Amino acid sequence: MNIPLIPGIQAWQAYRESDMDVTERERTEAVLEKNMIEEIIKTRDITPGQLEELLKTEDTGLLEELREAACETAKQIYGTGIYLRGLIEFTNYCKNDCYYCGIRKSNRNAVRYRLTKEEILACCKAGHELGFGTFVLQGGEDPYFTDERICDIVSEIRICYPDCAITLSLGEKTKESYQRYFNAGADRYLLRHETADTAHYAKLHPPELSLEHRMKCLRELKEIGYQTGCGFMVGSPYQTVGTIYRDIQFIRELKPHMVGIGPFIPHGDTPFADREQGSLERTLRLLSLIRLIDPYVLLPATTALGTIHPQGRERGILAGANVVMPNLSPVSVREKYMLYNNKICTGEEAAECRDCLRRRIEGIGYRIETGRGDKKFSNSKDTKNMF
Ligand code: SAM
Ligand code: FES
Repeated sequence: MNIPLIPGIQAWQAYRESDMDVTERERTEAVLEKNMIEEIIKTRDITPGQLEELLKTEDTGLLEELREAACETAKQIYGTGIYLRGLIEFTNYCKNDCYYCGIRKSNRNAVRYRLTKEEILACCKAGHELGFGTFVLQGGEDPYFTDERICDIVSEIRICYPDCAITLSLGEKTKESYQRYFNAGADRYLLRHETADTAHYAKLHPPELSLEHRMKCLRELKEIGYQTGCGFMVGSPYQTVGTIYRDIQFIRELKPHMVGIGPFIPHGDTPFADREQGSLERTLRLLSLIRLIDPYVLLPATTALGTIHPQGRERGILAGANVVMPNLSPVSVREKYMLYNNKICTGEEAAECRDCLRRRIEGIGYRIETGRGDKKFSNSKDTKNMF
């Protein structure tokens, strides 16, 4: 039997189904064992050397193999459905001073705003009418939004939209606060870990913020029962292959439900104003790698990815991403939630955002999955697949 010794899943499958004799098998196996993508798929892991090669290679054959394997893996699990998460950026006040972030407290040029409870509910209503089944409430760490206020908003959304998922992304809180939001009806929480390397974390944040505390928060969120998302920026200042390797290992250990990665994009009013932005290519390679390491994970094609390239989000989906987060915030505040320069989708109403994304998604042969996105996979024991 003549099996082409091309590396990749097809070759591996063909080999396993073949009736080759033992010597031929051994020879083929030796070649296939050397294949990096196969090894990642088999071990759900990557070595530091392989990661370095994957991030630096210009071998278009290998890169296409990586992309195709990730895209196929996502399709086998989620089909061509892309989940929608409606983002409501409800405050840009923040007590933190992360060096990369456009709404950090030291940015005196940021025009600050807060949405009222009524405005937030109006965003949910508009989103619900457009078919959104998940609302993501994101904001800076704004002391005005006490636990009482957050719980009041969350429970009101829960009463109005009992079938919808409520995701919070409010930064670092105490376990008690997380528990109170959960009891009020929140079921998901996004908290990017930003980097899993302590020294790198200290170069991106002021001394009062620590990686140790960020990770503690993530573990507590999981303990409480939140469907939890971590993540990091690709190409953040001082990031190295070594720090990315730690990110990958942290993701393997935490086993989050979602991993949000997008390119770092400088903001003119931050200490990192003159830094280079993260690359599209590297972000796509990492999306594919994360899909192969954790096939079921929810992987957004982020707004930042769409900001650095006109087809960034489509390319993200074709690299293995399966979530998009259209903006439901009122257009009047969109420009003010400026985490980085040139952020896209600041002028469109929610319906326009959704329609634009629908066209983009359908244009590459996928379709929007409406509702909460809860999906039970009968062949899995893990409740993490309940999306
Ligand atoms: N306060 C919450 C928190 O700390 O998780 C949520 C808001 S925060 C602005 C959301 C995410 O935006 C951060 O986790 C960070 O990864 C991302 N972000 C901030 N500045 C960015 C930049 N310049 N480029 C790309 N992403 C950025
Ligand atoms: Fe607080 Fe960015 S510094 S949200």
